[in-house]
Amino acid sequence: MKHLLKLGDLSKEEIVKILDLADKLKYEKRNGIEHHLLKGKTLGMIFQKSSTRTRVSFEVGMFDLGGSALFLSPRDLQIGRGEVVQDTARVLSRFLDGIMIRTFEQKEVEDFASYGDIPIINGLTDYCHPCQVLADLMTIRERKGTLEGLKLCFVGDGNNMANSLIVGGIKMGMEVSIACPKGYEPDSDIMKWASENGKFTCTPDVVEAASGADVLYTDVWASMGQEEEFEERAKIFKNYQINSKLMKSANECAMVLHCLPAHRGEEITGDVIEQHSDEIFEEAENRLHAQKAVMVLLMAD
Ligand code: CP
Ligand code: NVA
Repeated sequence: MKHLLKLGDLSKEEIVKILDLADKLKYEKRNGIEHHLLKGKTLGMIFQKSSTRTRVSFEVGMFDLGGSALFLSPRDLQIGRGEVVQDTARVLSRFLDGIMIRTFEQKEVEDFASYGDIPIINGLTDYCHPCQVLADLMTIRERKGTLEGLKLCFVGDGNNMANSLIVGGIKMGMEVSIACPKGYEPDSDIMKWASENGKFTCTPDVVEAASGADVLYTDVWASMGQEEEFEERAKIFKNYQINSKLMKSANECAMVLHCLPAHRGEEITGDVIEQHSDEIFEEAENRLHAQKAVMVLLMAD
C-alpha cells in the first residue's frame, strides 16, 4: 500500500491489517500507552472543503504518533492562485512525509499521487470517502464481532459515502443494499463491480432495502458543493430518512451509523440519533484510530 486514494485499491487483507492495527492503537491510547511510530514525521493537510472530524482526527493522530501536522488552506497556498498540482505535489514532497487532501475531484488526489513521491491520503472527494469507511468497518466489527455476512443498508443519496460503503462492505463479505431515488444512484462502475463480486442491491424502495439489515447508514441529502440544490433535493429525498418506523424493517438489534455532520429531521430523526448515539459517536472517535493505522502503514520507516 503506497497511498490511500480509494478503497477499491486495497485488498481485503490490507483492510483487515488496517482494522487490526486501529484496534491495537485504540487499546493502547485508552490505556495510556504511547506509540510514537511517526516520530519526526510531518503530514500536510490540504482542505478545499470544511471539516471537523477529519481535520481534528488527523492532527491529533499525528500528535499521538509523535509527529506533527500542518493545516494548509487553499486560500493561503499558491494552489488557490493557480499553481498547478504537478508543481505543488513535487515541492510538498520535498518538505513533508505525507499529504492528506480533501477536495472535489478524485482526479486531483490521483494527480497528487502520480506527481509527488510521498504517500497521499484521500480525506474525501466527491467520489469517495475511504477514511470514513475504514472507521465505519472498524466500528461495526468492534460491536458485532464480525463483518462477513452482515447486511449493511445505506439510505439516501448515492454519493461519496455510498460509493465507499459499497466497496468496503462488499470487499469485507457484507451484503450491501442501497435505497435511493431514481437518478441519484451510486457510481455505475462501482455498482457493476459490486453486483459481480458480492451480494448487492440498489432500489428506490427504502423498506425493501432496510429489510433484515444489521446496520442502517445514512448521510446528508446535499453534500458539500451541492448547497444550491438543497431545496430541490429535500423534496426528492423526503422519504429517504432513518426514523423509528424504518427501524422496524431492520433487524431488532440493528446498529445505526452516520458519518456526520447530521441534519436532524432530514436524513435521520433526532430520536434515532439519540437512541444510537453510542454507536454514532464511537464511529466518530474511530476516525482517529483508523487514520492513525493508515498513516503508520503508509508513513512509518
Ligand atoms: N465525517 C467527516 O468526514 O466529517 P468532517 O466533514 O467533519 O471531516
Ligand atoms: N457526503 C458528505 C459527507 C461528509 C462527511 C459530503 O460530501 O459533504
